[in-house]
Amino acid sequence: MKILVTGGTGYIGSHTVVELQNQGYEVIIADNLSNSHENVLDHIAEISGKRPEFEKLDFSDPQHTNNFFDKNLDIKGIIHFAAFKAVGESVKNPLMYYHNNLVSLMNILNNMSKHGIENIVFSSSCTVYGQPEKLPVSEDSPIQKAWSPYGNTKQISEDIIYDTLNADQRLKGIALRYFNPIGAHESAKIGELPLGVPNNLVPFITQTAIGIRDQLKVFGDDYNTPDGTAIRDYIHVVDLAKAHVIAVDRMISGKGKKAFEVFNLGTGNGYSVMEVIKSFEKVSGEKLNYKIVDRRPGDVEQVWADTTFANNELGWKAEKGLDEMMASAWKWEKALKEKESGL
Ligand code: UD1
Repeated sequence: MKILVTGGTGYIGSHTVVELQNQGYEVIIADNLSNSHENVLDHIAEISGKRPEFEKLDFSDPQHTNNFFDKNLDIKGIIHFAAFKAVGESVKNPLMYYHNNLVSLMNILNNMSKHGIENIVFSSSCTVYGQPEKLPVSEDSPIQKAWSPYGNTKQISEDIIYDTLNADQRLKGIALRYFNPIGAHESAKIGELPLGVPNNLVPFITQTAIGIRDQLKVFGDDYNTPDGTAIRDYIHVVDLAKAHVIAVDRMISGKGKKAFEVFNLGTGNGYSVMEVIKSFEKVSGEKLNYKIVDRRPGDVEQVWADTTFANNELGWKAEKGLDEMMASAWKWEKALKEKESGL
């Protein structure tokens, strides 16, 4: 059975393709390679023994998108990752974010209706909850006004999917709200490849430890948390990838209870920035150069997931703990360095 993975050469996409192929799905990746490399396909092949089909495609182009679906009539489901994801960049270039993230989704949904492709899994984010009033945050917590155009595209995308499914009763969808995905595949053949200076905590930590960056800035130690630094629910990217396969199985086998379902994907544990640093130092044996600076504008104080619904309904639970996540992120960073130095 063939699944289209948009953005399948990206960070979460590539790990998901590996898990899909491990479970016997046929995969076609379509990606415009704006933030990833085609050689990821070779690495996926090395891990799972099979090179997925690939098409270089920008889904925000309606004509190219229509042509793609017209010639790939055997697609049974779609996992839609392809989107821009940098919060700061979205504030500077909102129209670029609204255009890319929303037009792509609408072009895909149009073709689902046209070709009777019934299933879509959508890559959403815990950013839709903002700073929740109650922790842990469950799926029925109120959606807060988005703090960035990026966050807003996730909220609007969920609405667009909901309305489209409502209008075409053949279609089914699952939105997966990710907490903070980190880590890399145990083979260290695929992982996160930030372009330029990383925005996210864990790639910044590993790049600092390996010598690419001088110093990690810890954004704020005056939050109302036990050690004063902000708290997030970090989840291993392979645990996250496995949930996507379960979501696809669920839709294809008709086990879903509603046309549109939403699940939180986290571990249910919150860790502070300092706890993440300590875990990294422990598993790597490296001393990290960091300093405390002011809070980063737009950051929430603390958020972690209530995973009860995902655990019960999907029969899925994140398995990897923080130390394992940090060890895999470090192994990946070291493998990148070895590759660069030609070892
Ligand atoms: C952000 C987005 C989220 C998006 C995710 C992945 C928001 C509210 N969250 O998550 O939607 O899916 O990025 O792109 O928009 N930190 C430092 N120093 C650093 C970097 C980060 O101290 O150099 C701290 C942050 O202040 C935060 C924690 O580390 O407390 C995690 O930050 P980050 O990895 O950037 O993820 P989020 O901001 O939680």
